Order: sequence, then structure tokens, then C-alpha cells
Amino acid sequence: MTQSITNPLRVGLRQERVISPQCLVIFGASGDLTHRKLVPALFELFNQRRLPSEFALLGCARRKWTNEEFRSKMEDALGSTVANNPIAWKQFSEGLFYQSIDLQHPEDLVKLKERLEDIDRIRATHGNRTFYFSVSPDFYGSGCKALASAGLLSDPKRSRIVIEKPFGRDFGTAQSLNRLVQSCANESQVFRIDHYLGKETVQNILVLRFANAIFEPIWNRNYISNVQITASETVGVEERAGYYESSGALRDMVQNHLTQMLALTAMEPPGHFDPEAIRNEKAKVLQAARLADEIEPSNCCVRGQYGTGGTDLNPLSAYRDEPGVNPNSTTETYVAMKLFIDNWRWQGVPFYVRTGKRLPKRLSEVVLTFREAPVHLFEAVGGAPTSNQLILRIQPNEGAEFKFDVKSPGSGMRSRPVEMEFSYEDSFGEPSDEGYVRLLADAMLGDPTLFTRSDEVEAAWRLYTPLLEMIQDTPWQLPVHNYESRTWGPAAADSLLARDNLLWRRP
Ligand code: BG6
Repeated sequence: MTQSITNPLRVGLRQERVISPQCLVIFGASGDLTHRKLVPALFELFNQRRLPSEFALLGCARRKWTNEEFRSKMEDALGSTVANNPIAWKQFSEGLFYQSIDLQHPEDLVKLKERLEDIDRIRATHGNRTFYFSVSPDFYGSGCKALASAGLLSDPKRSRIVIEKPFGRDFGTAQSLNRLVQSCANESQVFRIDHYLGKETVQNILVLRFANAIFEPIWNRNYISNVQITASETVGVEERAGYYESSGALRDMVQNHLTQMLALTAMEPPGHFDPEAIRNEKAKVLQAARLADEIEPSNCCVRGQYGTGGTDLNPLSAYRDEPGVNPNSTTETYVAMKLFIDNWRWQGVPFYVRTGKRLPKRLSEVVLTFREAPVHLFEAVGGAPTSNQLILRIQPNEGAEFKFDVKSPGSGMRSRPVEMEFSYEDSFGEPSDEGYVRLLADAMLGDPTLFTRSDEVEAAWRLYTPLLEMIQDTPWQLPVHNYESRTWGPAAADSLLARDNLLWRRP
């Protein structure tokens, strides 16, 4: 029986880590991310009493809104969350301000500076500022330059920049963007956000591995035969064709979210729990990772694109028929690939990574499959041996499960796989916070542990460069295979594993 216990991490956060007086400036405040994720996360922090009373949010975008219009748009977007808590919203929304601005216009920067000084006076925010870029990635570099030239990044202790993904489009552009950003601010001021790192279960990979004595000794090539990392979604491209057409699943999901899960799963233990020690180990493992076939990358990567599907009652359109998508598009909505990590721990262990839209289930998980028992003692009496598996469930049903064989009841000696399970909800009794709650708090606290450092982001892009180049220069070598909506991707992805005598897990 599981018992409900208090989550010590949360209590710890509330008690020990206090956000200083702060003005959070969001560029791109009229966009989707602000009302869908950022403002709800800030309101949650407010309700958890983790925001200081000297807090302000300055929404910035080109639209000519007033403070009142911005507040009411956010209120509408939060819907029932506000309706259920009108008093808290009233208090919180008093700290919401809006400024119409174009970062490319120097006169607008003068206005921004004055506005921030004003807010410092009204809300006692003491000149502490976190600038959040939720704009088109084309403006990350010029935006940083504009802030630096206005002197808004000159104090490394009081000013930070948060940059959304994608950070660059490939290795070369990520490197140039890093140089540009670092010419405007110290690396310690830069917070490259990947919302997967804000997920409780992604962080739990570290705790599970390094706080338990039983896992680390077997977490290597001697015991693990392969690792599968999956992020599958049921949704299609929705209203994001403009962005997605030039990104595709490789840039949208693999280079960041899946690679971060891989890094946490495969990294060496850090010397101590310190942001740089952790990020050093993540960078090292990414530098040791490579495509399984570097000479012929098409042998280890499959791209797919969803076609029609669904039911007569609920038909689903093909990617190419979605609004805003080129009818001849070759953008991939599915990727599967095989990687190796060339180090002592993982030499020869395949890491299979896959992600796709319009698959049958929404789920993200890491599955470690252990080697078979060396002797099949019970085979002769009808016990077909299975491999033990440890499944880290990132979402939904956050938790973990371990699969192992037991004797089936009865007179024979047949074995059967069963599961031992841990569920966050059963054990802790409360749903985990959205990733943005944790990450916004950490950025304002100046804790970079869960943000991607410049060398990590470059190593991640470098890993996929041969594929990105092939897609651009000789796309016929990496064709997009069509797959029916709400199926598990193209048959070619199954063949990728079949060649190694394996199957994808069908959760
Ligand atoms: C985003 C991608 O970063 O992650 C989206 O741009 C994707 O395309 C989303 O849908 C998935 O996030 P989550 O948290 O729902 O798994």
C-alpha cells in the first residue's frame, strides 16, 4: 500500500529558495506561449507564495495594448483558473504591465529603460530584471544586442536573459548565436530554456540514478542491452505550420527534448550537486554521442510524415492538408534514429530515439532493457525468458516501473513477466507543477542547473549535423515515409529495430 507523504523537494524550495524583488520582462507577450504557459506559471508561483511581493511582469510586444488590455487578455486566457480565485488574480494582476515596443527601434529602448525605472519605483523591484525572449528565433541575437547597447545587461548580478528554443538551426548557427549572445552578456546571465528539464520526472532521472545504491552498478554496457527514448504526441501541427514547416521533428523535439533525456540517462555521476558539475557531465556525454552509422546516416535514421487517418466520425487530415502547410511539404513529423555513445560506460549499447505527431498515445518515456539472463534454466519447462526492463515514465502517469519474471502459479515452472510500479500521484498525492513553473522560478533565482549551457547546445546540434545536411543537400537519401495518423509511425522505423532483432515498445 502506498502512503501519501509531503514532497520534501517542494517544501525545500518554498523554505530555502527566495526569489529577490524582480521585474520579469517578456518580449513576445502577445504570443501564444505567454498566455498558454508563462502567465499561468507565474500565477501558480504567486499562489504558492513563491513570488516576492516586489514583483512585476512587463509584457512587451509590438501591439498597442494598454496595461488594462494586457491584464484582461491574460485573465481571459486563464479562464477558470482566475474565475476560481478572483481575489488572488486581482492582487497578482496589479503587478502586470504592458509596453508596446519594437526592439529594433533605438527610441523604443529608451522608452523601455524609462518604463523599467518607473516599475522599479512603483513595485520596488530594485533594478533586478529577467528578460525573457519569447519571440521569433530570428530576433534572439538582435534582441540581446539591443538590450546590451541600452546598458540593460551591464550588471551580471541584476540582469538575466532567458532564451526559448530553438537556439540556432544547426551547429553553425548555434555557434554564431552563442558568440553573439556572449558578446552581450556573461554565460552566467544566459538561461537557454528547454521545458522538458522543468518536468519533475525528467529531474527524477538524476535522483533515481544517483540517490539509490542499486542502479548505478548495473547502469552500463555490462547489464543494459539497449535504451529506447520516446516522446509521442497525439496532436498534429495545430496552428503552428509557419514555424513547424521550417523546423520539423528533428529540430523541434529531437535536438532538444529527447537529447536532454538522453544526456540525463547516460551521463556520468557529477562530483557534487552543482550546476556546473552537472552540466559538465551532460556536455561530455553529448560530445561522446554519435549517429550509429556516420558514413551512411540514412541507415540509422527514419523520417516520417503523417497522412490521413482517424475514424469516419472523426477523420484526421494529412500534414500536407493542414492550414499553412505546403501541399508538397517534405517536413518530417516523425523521426526515429539509432545512436551510440563512445565511452567506457556505453560502448556498443544502442540508444533508439523516436518522436512523432499524430501517434496513438501521448507519452514520453525512457526504457532501459537489461541483458537476458545468461542461462535459460526454465526454457525446457516452457518458460520463455524475457528481458528485465526499467521504464521511466516522464508523462503521463508520471513514475517508473520495473519488469521482471516470476513463476506463474501452478504445478509447472513457467515464468511470466510482472511489473513493480511507482506512481508520483499515488506516492505524493498532488500533481507535479508544469515545467515552466519550476524553470521560471529557477531563472529568477539565477539557478542555471536546469538550463542548457552553450557547449551542451552546440554538442547537441553537432550530433545531428550529418542528418540536417543530408536533408538539405540530398533529401532523397533521407525520404519522408508516409504514415497513417494515429499509428506508430512508418514501417521503416520498425525495420530500423528489426535489423537488431528488436521491437519498439508499444506502451
Ligand atoms: C514543444 C514543441 O517544444 O514541445 C511542440 O515545439 C511539442 O511541437 C511540445 O508539441 C511537446 O511538449 P509536451 O510537454 O507536451 O510533451
